[in-house]
Amino acid sequence: MSAAPLVPAELAATGEGTPFSPLYDDVYHAAAGGLAQARQVFLGGNDLPARWLGAEHFTIGETGFGLGLNFLATWQAWQTASMPCRLHYVALEKHPFRHDDLARALARFPELDALAAELVSRWPPLVPGFHRLHFAGGRLTLTLLFGDAPHLLPQLVACFDALYLDGFAPAKNPEMWSPALLSALTRRCHDGTTLATWSVAGDLRRTLEHLGWTLERRPGFGGKREMLTASRPLAVSPSATARRLAREAESPSLQSWAFLARPPCSAVASPAPTFPAPGADERKAIVIGAGLAGTAISERLASRGWRIELFERNPAPAQEASGNPAGILLPLLTKDDALAGRLSRACYLYALRRLAGLPGVRWSPCGVLQIARDNAHEDLQRATIDGQHLPTEFAAFLARDAAATLVGRPLAQGGWWFPGGGWVAPASFCTALLAAAGEHVRAHYGVAVTRIARAAGSWQAFAADGKLLAEAPHLILANAQAASALLPRPIPLTLTPIRGQISYLPPAAIGAPALRHVLCRNGYLTPPDAGTACLGASFDRDDQDIAMRSADHRGNLQRLEELLPGILAGTAASIDAGQLEGRVGIRTATRDRLPLVGALPAPMTAEQASRLTLATLPREEGLHVLLGLGARGMVWAPLLAELLASQMADEPLPLECGLADAVDPARFELRALRRNSKFQ
Ligand SMILES: Cc1cc2nc3c(=O)[nH]c(=O)nc-3n(C[C@H](O)[C@H](O)[C@H](O)COP(=O)(O)OP(=O)(O)OC[C@H]3O[C@@H](n4cnc5c(N)ncnc54)[C@H](O)[C@@H]3O)c2cc1C
Ligand SMILES: C[S@@+](CC[C@H](N)C(=O)[O-])C[C@H]1O[C@@H](n2cnc3c(N)ncnc32)[C@H](O)[C@@H]1O
Repeated sequence: MSAAPLVPAELAATGEGTPFSPLYDDVYHAAAGGLAQARQVFLGGNDLPARWLGAEHFTIGETGFGLGLNFLATWQAWQTASMPCRLHYVALEKHPFRHDDLARALARFPELDALAAELVSRWPPLVPGFHRLHFAGGRLTLTLLFGDAPHLLPQLVACFDALYLDGFAPAKNPEMWSPALLSALTRRCHDGTTLATWSVAGDLRRTLEHLGWTLERRPGFGGKREMLTASRPLAVSPSATARRLAREAESPSLQSWAFLARPPCSAVASPAPTFPAPGADERKAIVIGAGLAGTAISERLASRGWRIELFERNPAPAQEASGNPAGILLPLLTKDDALAGRLSRACYLYALRRLAGLPGVRWSPCGVLQIARDNAHEDLQRATIDGQHLPTEFAAFLARDAAATLVGRPLAQGGWWFPGGGWVAPASFCTALLAAAGEHVRAHYGVAVTRIARAAGSWQAFAADGKLLAEAPHLILANAQAASALLPRPIPLTLTPIRGQISYLPPAAIGAPALRHVLCRNGYLTPPDAGTACLGASFDRDDQDIAMRSADHRGNLQRLEELLPGILAGTAASIDAGQLEGRVGIRTATRDRLPLVGALPAPMTAEQASRLTLATLPREEGLHVLLGLGARGMVWAPLLAELLASQMADEPLPLECGLADAVDPARFELRALRRNSKFQ
């Protein structure tokens, strides 16, 4: 299911200066003031900040992010509250503002000064899907869902403590107040959730009552006589009418299997949540492997207050696949915006935000030019950009001459230009993650885990001599190909080793003008860093030999010639492949080339597999994986670690559930059992 291109909001104002939407013919907030409205209607209507006191974490959902005034007013109240809890703010927005328009609009609210500037500085490019942003040292998380609410809400796994309903007036924008949408929101609430809105429209009140909400009218804001608040009383059981209303009124997109199968916390349809919230004693985990996967998940859990015992068989982190001096960072674009493309886009944008916010990483957002392989590929690249209306700050197509001007050399074809992409030294990222995690992570280097076992509700890790190394309620296999040997039973994860060799080039080999951007095609070339450019990489399946090969250096030089035609007869003519230095690493990939993220499946029969889904199948309690990062570990690891940490901590997921399902480590086993099942 591809996402419709985004249509940005148009910034306009009424005669009085209130932000106004020509598209909806309505104002963004009451003329009496956006922030005052946010404080009285949305914060006050949900009894905030009082309800934050004593809570560990709290989740707010909003229909219509608009200018982010409600978010910013909430942030302001939250940061001045005493002992604030961790706060998740999840907001839907069909027409986000362009970066500069948002900055201009928020400049009218000087009292928001630093907060508004932070929001603007992290504002994502206008591409559809989920965007997770962290603020306040990670204690405040904003998940923006860019796209049409009825289309996106079924993809959201979250459980709201409070709702802000703010989707323009019901008469002007009935879609944002439809029974289907309200029932989808209600499914993501628990007994005790509250909601607030300035609208007291009769249809809205009736629908909410049908859905089991208890309504209260309070004095309204800015000339409105009344506003509405509502709560879900403890132990409310929605009436049969409500159930029928919810089913009958759902739009086709709200009837997807994922939506029906995965209500995280409501009683409207009632399978249990997949990941129960861990108590304080349970927030401990063993992580095996200190490459990109292991350090990324350790840091994400540590940021949530978890304690981690991290085991690495090498004497330092990032000595194996994650040890190359430079990895490149670019998204995968697919013509029809297919699943892998949407996943990689979300991961890429999140990775860039993480890199920008983490001190100590050696990286450069110098831009990546992905040169087309031939004319047909060039046509496909152009059509992909045209078809998806992607903003140029994210991706553009450059015809051959424009691309050659950018690089300063003749090129065989044009290509995709990713201005925010670049290169990263993965080991520096791993080290920076561990530094950020601080004392929450205890790293044990030079220690190989050779066996894991489950005992008395905990996972245990053992050394080769049988010594118990650590014990914790959760264990995460982040040890790439070697994970297969530690599985509690044979589970088809389809992990395959893929050998890769890179070659180091002196800048003289590239000549003038100096290379300023990453180039890639069948191979890649990074601009020189500390006197060396990285040229890669060979790609040999089922090969785990780590000895350097001259033949592979020759292969890399051939890749260089494809990137920069004529270079082997020019500045690189004197290079002897036999004398080149480089590095060999083993990538670990899955059959469908997507990673494995989440809890491992528990044993199930073919009959069970025929009736269960990824959302309902049994899991090995506390046993998780972050594996199969393949050739794109720098792109996948940051967001997929955040996904796994969110699952383990029972927090809103940072990705559409369809995308989380695509990386579910149970997918291959479920498919295999179903294929062989006579219960089909
Ligand atoms: C040649 C090459 C070029 C690449 N180029 C890029 C690129 O340009 N961009 C990009 O994004 N990605 C690139 N990649 C891919 C990227 O490097 C990988 O996806 C990523 O490093 C994988 O990280 P990982 O943590 O899963 O695995 P690893 O880095 O291999 O980490 C696994 C760790 O587990 C440890 N371990 C294993 N078993 C045990 C055990 N039993 N006990 C304790 N420790 C254990 C290992 O020692 C290792 O440190 C490239 C890879 C290669 C090989
Ligand atoms: C009144 S404004 C929200 C103001 C906002 N809460 C704030 O604090 O600035 C309503 C918002 O709902 C968005 N919207 C309208 N229809 C939508 C839909 N179908 N899906 C998602 N967002 C929608 C609009 O683009 C607009 O930004």
